[in-house]
Amino acid sequence: MCGVVGILLKTGNAVPDVIEGLSRLEYRGYDSAGVLTINNQNFQKVRAVGKLESLKNELRSAPLSGAIAIGHTRWATHGGVTIDNAHPHESGRVAIVHNGIIENHRYLKKLVQDQGYQCTTDTDTEVIAHLIDYYLRLGNEHHIAVQKTLNQLEGTFSIVAVFKDRPSLMIGARHGSPLAFSVSEHGSFIASDAIALSLWSNHVCYLEDKDMIIIDDHKVVVLDEHGQPIERPFKNISHLNLHSDKLGYSHYMLKEIFEQPQVVHDTFSSLLNDDESDIKLDARLESILMSAKRIKIVACGTSYYAGLLCQYWMEAYGHMGVDVEIASEFRYRQPYLGDTDLAILISQSGETIDTLASLDLLKSQNIPTLGIVNVLESSLMRRSDFYIQTLAGTEVSVASTKAFSAQITVLLALVFKKIEPSDRELKIKKFLNIPKHMNCVLDQFDDIMKLCNPLIQSKDVIYMARGMNTPIAFEGALKLKELSYINAQGYPAGELKHGPIALIDESLYAVVIAPSNDCLPKTLSNVQEILARGGKVILVTDHHSKIDSINPYPQHIYRLPDCDAIFQPFLTVMIMQMLAFGVANLKGQDVDQPRNLAKSVTVE
Ligand code: F6R
Repeated sequence: MCGVVGILLKTGNAVPDVIEGLSRLEYRGYDSAGVLTINNQNFQKVRAVGKLESLKNELRSAPLSGAIAIGHTRWATHGGVTIDNAHPHESGRVAIVHNGIIENHRYLKKLVQDQGYQCTTDTDTEVIAHLIDYYLRLGNEHHIAVQKTLNQLEGTFSIVAVFKDRPSLMIGARHGSPLAFSVSEHGSFIASDAIALSLWSNHVCYLEDKDMIIIDDHKVVVLDEHGQPIERPFKNISHLNLHSDKLGYSHYMLKEIFEQPQVVHDTFSSLLNDDESDIKLDARLESILMSAKRIKIVACGTSYYAGLLCQYWMEAYGHMGVDVEIASEFRYRQPYLGDTDLAILISQSGETIDTLASLDLLKSQNIPTLGIVNVLESSLMRRSDFYIQTLAGTEVSVASTKAFSAQITVLLALVFKKIEPSDRELKIKKFLNIPKHMNCVLDQFDDIMKLCNPLIQSKDVIYMARGMNTPIAFEGALKLKELSYINAQGYPAGELKHGPIALIDESLYAVVIAPSNDCLPKTLSNVQEILARGGKVILVTDHHSKIDSINPYPQHIYRLPDCDAIFQPFLTVMIMQMLAFGVANLKGQDVDQPRNLAKSVTVE
């Protein structure tokens, strides 16, 4: 993870721009940050543990200034969260910032130590700086020293390097982790992500894997993996959604939860034909989907749960086999793909490394790939055979909410495409009303917040459901643990007796999603089993379920607004999100930036 920025200005101070760029990249990691510039052939740097705000505070008391500057916001992989481990790291004539993991750093550390370098941090990054300096000392040109170093690194990384003896030279390299650059009349800019570069230009160039960029006195050269100069296209990013403010909400997460009806409406509308009677897709994608017998969905985390929900929908309504895979497992388990007609990769960021590696694997087997992705021009969008953009807009809160709703909207549209045209039109019509139902749930925010009070004392919470709400139970548990640090686990309710029941005592809370359907009596039996053992239950059901006779009675009941069963996950997931938000907020946690997490998972 981590965000890197490098700026070379024609005149003026690059440090404030670097800080501004880092603020756009903080979603990539926020445990420490640092900035470095060059003055009179000397490096000057300021680093701070904690969020970017701490670095800004440090800079207020020790300002930095220089026309060239590199900056970093860190998500620790190797070495604790300390000032020493914070980037930039320097050695002799070179200083670097790095995103990614150097897998052979132990071997390289020994190598540089044998050459007399002292390693003073616990990071895998430091060896890169030592190696570059080592090759400089051997008399290599700066870019050759970088190239020779890159040749020795194993893993995934992107770096930006500056040199105290050449203060108008900046070199960047990409190997697995994203890196892009832009130029303007004011200078040259390198960053992990276009969202940072959009501060300075509407046109960015995404480096390809193993590219190196050399910015020498504002002359820009890109070298490909063979060291040959190459022109990479610039993309217009003026339509990129930039960070908006909280629009009066206390937290980005809350704002994003409340944006969901609009996001679902916008995403669905973008997939409808003019008279709203059918789903419109790229013609080639449509023909692959319509003839497909089996699809594979690959994703991580919340996006994986969106895929799981699609499996319930597609098999029940689209009558097609669906396998759903966790990308980090899929990419390494030599999967059998003989019967896969289409692969769908789901990712909010479009940069999740395991999802991208899965994409490469699928493409190497000639499986057509569809990326469902929120971030425009992300790697998944650029590298998939087809893509559909989820119109969630920028999701600032690290915990995903509106991106999930947008993902399941796209997936449902694909399911609609596979059902009979007459039924399809009816379902489309009904689904167009779902944002209204979602608003009804949001109207009950205060009631849902009251359910949070009892949960804050819990050490363990289990989430249970059957059928298509099961992935929503999983998602509810994930949201609670990532935001409130309470141990939470989601189960298919039928699994209770196969082990989790042993957890139940007076301190356990269960959140049970059980709308009225054929399985309700069975889920209510599970509820009774929990209550009989002293556990407490928050039951999410609807107005039709007959639960008056159950004894003991659940402590808390929330009734959903009426809607067709197929659409209920759009409502139940918002309740799960609000519960997690409310509990974390009551506990005083950092809702938008929970500890240890990052929004874009670009390392394994
Ligand atoms: C949880 C969350 C993560 C992401 C996961 C995949 O709230 O946000 O579980 O869903 O890291 O990220 P993307 O969708 O960017 O591939």
